[in-house]
Parts: sequence; structure tokens; C-alpha cells
Amino acid sequence: MSEIRVEPVSRRRISAHSHIMGLGLDEKGKAKMVGDGLVGQTEAREAAGIVVKMIREGRIAGRGILLVGPPGTGKTALAVAIARELGEETPFVIMSGSEVYSTEKKKTEILMEALRKALGVKLREVRKVYEGVVKEVKIRRARHPMVPYLTVPVEARIVLATRDEELALTVPEEVTQQILEIGVRKGDVIWIDAETGRVHRVGRSREVEGARTYDVETKRIVEVPKGPVKKEKEIVNVLTLHDLDAIYAAQRSMISFFGLTFEREIPSEVRRQVDETVKKWIDEKKAEIIPGVLFIDDAHMLDIEAFSFLTRAMESEFAPILILATNRGIARIRGTDIESPHGMPLDLLDRLLIIPTRPYTPEEIREIIKIRASEEEVNISSEALEKLVEIGSKTSLRYAVQLLEPARIIAEERGSDRIDVEDVEKARKLFIDVSVSTEYLKQYEKLFMK
Ligand SMILES: Nc1ncnc2c1ncn2[C@@H]1O[C@H](COP(=O)(O)OP(=O)(O)OP(=O)(O)O)[C@@H](O)[C@H]1O
Ligand SMILES: [Mg+2]
Repeated sequence: MSEIRVEPVSRRRISAHSHIMGLGLDEKGKAKMVGDGLVGQTEAREAAGIVVKMIREGRIAGRGILLVGPPGTGKTALAVAIARELGEETPFVIMSGSEVYSTEKKKTEILMEALRKALGVKLREVRKVYEGVVKEVKIRRARHPMVPYLTVPVEARIVLATRDEELALTVPEEVTQQILEIGVRKGDVIWIDAETGRVHRVGRSREVEGARTYDVETKRIVEVPKGPVKKEKEIVNVLTLHDLDAIYAAQRSMISFFGLTFEREIPSEVRRQVDETVKKWIDEKKAEIIPGVLFIDDAHMLDIEAFSFLTRAMESEFAPILILATNRGIARIRGTDIESPHGMPLDLLDRLLIIPTRPYTPEEIREIIKIRASEEEVNISSEALEKLVEIGSKTSLRYAVQLLEPARIIAEERGSDRIDVEDVEKARKLFIDVSVSTEYLKQYEKLFMK
């Protein structure tokens, strides 16, 4: 009998933009020639830096950004860099224009969902909690009422301490369960909601005697809190409007029973209710809206219906910042016979700030290929690098970057761990670029199926 062996996959999956860490700007907002993985394209990067400031200061409501430029000039890369700069607190939704065409959902429903995922709601609540560092946890178990050989946790005794006092708590089963799930141990700083029993771990303290410490600590190291153990504490949660829609919809139907969720449309009635509630929270100063970003790549794929929906959405009370990207010049607006700049309606274009990207110089192409080669962990000779620069300048940067991986495999097959000119040339013969492939099609036109 033959044995099937599965080799472990050791190589990590690398995406086309994994080398990008940010916009690479200095404190004055000037672009360094090479910074955060980005090379050249300095004006567009500086413009993007201004956009990041406007977003952070909340000064861009009802407006959007359009990135335009030829293929492979870094439009998607710039959007990724903007997301990195904004950080994790700001919701950032990425989709492609073609994603609105689905057989299951309406176009406007898909866009609506994306818009609501890009709107954060920061909820503040003052709660009564017990907070402190754990000095002791003892779980009391008892026999399972129906399965006698099983024991189940029934309650726990926890000693919580601050710098100023120490308090022993006895907590019921539900809280004990959470303590076990989170894996609370001696030396953890936690709080327990006095009313709901929700347990939250803040981090770890290195100060508790007898608590195990590790050289590699995966949890955040925090200070032991001061004051009383029982206190009022402001708790901040960030959700998106879409999360709230889903929670609200689930409450109203049995679909979430057993934890199953089904992909389905959220009734507009639910969204209205959620909006009302959020507005009330805002008035009561319990909540704050954090406008995030909806980035639609290849936006020329959208049609007139989608464009009008987006234009209207930008005007509404809760609107995220819209960033679009396209490589089309004058083009027909999908769903119409009208030609328009970038294939978009003028009333939408009117609301967009446009950032152009320009083709790269050979020097910039060289730098980008070098960065990609090190990101993909491939060795390349300087002659082979020059060959790729030449190919990139003649065809496109993306094509040159894409040849790296096949060239590495070709080199490996001849027993070398370094890409040489011959490997690049072979890769280029095997994988042709678009201009060559259209030539090829023309040449053999009669032979292809029509
Ligand atoms: N300035 C740059 N610095 C570093 N890497 C870059 C830069 N510009 C582009 N790249 C990289 O080159 C490749 C092609 O760029 P990207 O996909 O952003 O082009 P694009 O303008 O979105 O093209 P298209 O119009 O075809 O969508 C990507 O791997 C990208 O990360
Ligand atoms: Mg792109």
C-alpha cells in the first residue's frame, strides 16, 4: 500500500504588497526616496500623507479620493500604505469594483454593507468593576449532576489586589467558566464587571510573588492598578455599524440559534433602528463615530447604478471616506453609452480629490525589484537585476516583479540558488507579457476559436 505523505508548507504566503509598511514620510510630510517599503512616486505619497492627516482630523467628510495612473504605478500600493498609516483603530475596507456583481446579493446591498463596515462606533460606558492583579485563583469543582464521573467547575475564589488594598471574591459558575476559558492565572491584571460578570484580561504584572514569569511573554505587561478594587471604570469598545446591524438582526431572529449564521441581507428596517440607536448614544455622549475608509480598487468596474448609490451615500449623515483607484482614461461609464473621464459620472468626479501616479524611472524600478526580491527571499545577480529593470521599463513594473518567482524556480532546477540572466530570459520566454500576447493573438488570429 502506498503511503500519502503531506509535506509541511514552510514558505509563507507573500502578497504583492507585503513589503509596504507605510507612506515613508518624514515629520514634515516629505517623502524619503525609499521609505517604509515605498520607492519614488514622491508627490503622490506626499498627497496621500495629507489625506491621512485630513482623515485623522476628521476633515474629509463627504469627500473622496481618486488615485489615477497607468497600470503598475503603485495605486493599490498607495492605498495599502494609507491603511497602514491609519492604524488598526480606523476601519479600512478593501474591495474591487467587480465584487459588486454577485448572483446572491444586490449591488447596492454589497456596497451598503461595505460602507457600514467602514464606519466605526466607539462606545464608552462607565461600569462598576472589580479590578486588580490576581494573587490567587481557586476553582471549586463538583460532580456533574447527570454524569457522575465528570466534575464541573461550580465556583471560584479569586483574590484581587491593587497597590492599596486586597479583596477576596467568590464568583459563580458563569464567571468561573470565563476565567477558565481566558486562562486567568496568578499575576494577570483583570477586571470583572460587577453586574454582567464579564471578565477581561488587561495584561500581566511582573510584580506578583510566586507567579510564573516567562522570558518570552506574549501578554502585555501592565502596572498594578491603584485605589480600591471595586470601582467605576470607563470601558471603550470599537465596533462597526455593520457589527451592530448583525447583532441587532440576530437578536430579532432565531437564525443565530446554535451559533449558526447565514449569509443574508440585512433588512433596511434593522439599519434604520441601529442608526436611531447610535444617534441616541451620540447625543448621550456614550458613543462616537469613527469614519473609516472604503477603498474600491479598479473602480471603473462599477456601473452607473453603483456610482449613483455611492454619490448619494457620501452625502448621508454617517459616511466613511471613499478612496477609488483606476487605470482608465476616457472610458464609457458602465451601464450607459456616455464617455467620461475614468469611466465615472461627472457629479461623482466633482466630489473627489484626484491624486495622479506616474510611470517609474529605471532607477525606481531597480529599487522596487530589489525590495521585492528580498521580500520574496530570492537571490539575484546584478546582471539579472539589470535585465529585469530593462524588461520592467519596456513592459511594466508588475510584469518584471512577477518574473522573479518563475525565474527563481528555473534557477533552482538547474541547481543554483541565485537567479542569473539566463533564468530571467527563460522565464520571460515562458511567461509572456500582454503586448507580446496580443501580437501572438494577431499572428494566429485565424486559428483561434471565435
Ligand atoms: N512606489 C513603489 N514602491 C514600492 N513598491 C511599489 C511601488 N509602486 C508599486 N509597487 C509594487 O509594484 C507592484 C505593482 O503596483 P500596484 O499593484 O500598486 O499598481 P497599480 O497602480 O495598482 O496597477 P493597476 O492599475 O494595474 O491596478 C505591486 O507589487 C506594488 O506593491
Ligand atoms: Mg491596482
